[in-house]
Amino acid sequence: MSKKRVLSCIQPTGQIHLGNYFGAVKNWVDIQDKYECVYGVVDLHAMTMPYNPKDLKENTLQMITDLLACGIDPDKSVLFIQSMVPQHTELTWIFNCVTSYGELSRMTQFKDKSEQLASKSKKTVVSTGLFTYPVLQAADILVYNANYVPVGKDQEQHLELTRNIAVRFNNQFGEFFNEPEPLFTEIPKLMSLADPTKKMSKSLGEKHYIGVFDDEAVTRKKIRSAVTDTGETQGNEMSAGVANLITLLKACGKNNAVEDFTNAFHSGELKYKDLKDATADAVLELTTPFKQKKTELLNDRAYLDKLIREHAGKARAMAEKTLEKVKKLTGIYS
Ligand code: TRP
Repeated sequence: MSKKRVLSCIQPTGQIHLGNYFGAVKNWVDIQDKYECVYGVVDLHAMTMPYNPKDLKENTLQMITDLLACGIDPDKSVLFIQSMVPQHTELTWIFNCVTSYGELSRMTQFKDKSEQLASKSKKTVVSTGLFTYPVLQAADILVYNANYVPVGKDQEQHLELTRNIAVRFNNQFGEFFNEPEPLFTEIPKLMSLADPTKKMSKSLGEKHYIGVFDDEAVTRKKIRSAVTDTGETQGNEMSAGVANLITLLKACGKNNAVEDFTNAFHSGELKYKDLKDATADAVLELTTPFKQKKTELLNDRAYLDKLIREHAGKARAMAEKTLEKVKKLTGIYS
């Protein structure tokens, strides 16, 4: 029996942090044997918010490199750069014509981001690209006729729209697209180190996140400086900062240590320094091989470049099959 196909994409946001790793990338790596996986770095989506062209190009290459370094295996999965597969944008146009203005207006991400832009400055435009962002996302998924899409809860609405588009297309032009299902996995919720009431994110600033590729000294320093006791908790309630370190230790697979530290906490014997040292050791045990792999990749740019081109070619071949069929169904002369 042939494997079901999985498609997922990530924006080229610059260096990935442990929140991204445990929230998405680790799962992508883990399911490579079970499914036929197709993963993309969506540079065209990154153009929907103000950006710098030089950064976009660098971040795109960096994201490809980081994904490979973290364990995306190019012999198992396809890893493409979205703009190198023009069928995504071709299909987007066709989908634009079956997507209603009203349903795009209801997308919460559009509402949030357009408000964010409007509040920044009167001069920034809310682009049509930002408005039709979810249509491009639907094309990313349906151009490969994917069965499953691993995404976070924040992308649920976009996936729902993708299914609506598939159904509407099928009703209008004939059964063709699958209705892709989300693939939710249990993910640890990592919080900022400096403000453990907020989600770990790069936008909060350097000391709030741990970059997967931060060097050892930086990693240790960030963890050593993590906020533990804010004096707000009472009795045997764990503070958000301590709980966050425990979550991180658990995410790194150190279940025995988690149990020991939790017991120590409840008997009032927990030393924060010990917890921090153990957490830093666990994080470095995880990330050190990734850093070595990244160095290797960056030392062989010819290999990297060849891989990117080969994989874009594989993705194009898959996507072109869909476009041929879609053109027939929709009456496009070809
Ligand atoms: N919108 C997604 C995000 O911001 C990224 C994305 C683009 C995506 N195309 C996709 C995710 C297709 C899954 C499938 O996280």
